[in-house]
Amino acid sequence: MTESERSASLAVFPGSFDPITNGHVDIIRRGLSVFDRVTVAILVNQEKKPLFSVDERVRIVREVWEGEPRVQVDTFSGLLVDYATRVGASVIVRGLRAISDFEYEFQMALMNRRLKPRVETVFMMPAEKYSYLSSRLVKEVFQLGGDIEGLVPDVVIRHLRDKRDGAR
Ligand code: PNS
Repeated sequence: MTESERSASLAVFPGSFDPITNGHVDIIRRGLSVFDRVTVAILVNQEKKPLFSVDERVRIVREVWEGEPRVQVDTFSGLLVDYATRVGASVIVRGLRAISDFEYEFQMALMNRRLKPRVETVFMMPAEKYSYLSSRLVKEVFQLGGDIEGLVPDVVIRHLRDKRDGAR
């Protein structure tokens, strides 16, 4: 890490991103309006059964943010606060869609604070039109033949179609 990178503010936006939705994109944009750089950190989680592999998710998020050098994409395993410290991020950004998100997010933020008091969690609200959106619902609607245009970046629709057609 260079000295100028160290002084620039870096926020980590962690999650599963299986796949990235327009709600995530909205939060990343908001993150960029406050922080110099945002790293999308994709959790490598052996337990979950994702639709897209970690490599595919990295590729998809990179495609979505092509041409925006302030957004980086990375993977992590282990504790999020350890990862944030390792990459020099002092902030974790999380999206809050509704009250229903709050309890889980509050628990995580306080646990992360206990683990690493210097890493601050910042919550950001997406636009209301994305407040009901989740990766899980997007996958379900797509798999059942529903229209997901406007809910995910076009790149994601292409990858979902490729996966469906490849699976036939
Ligand atoms: O998109 P998700 O699945 O809601 O993201 C959850 C995520 C990745 C933020 C959370 O599971 C996480 O931080 N996992 C890393 C392990 C860790 O640090 N656990 C303690 C959190 S208090």
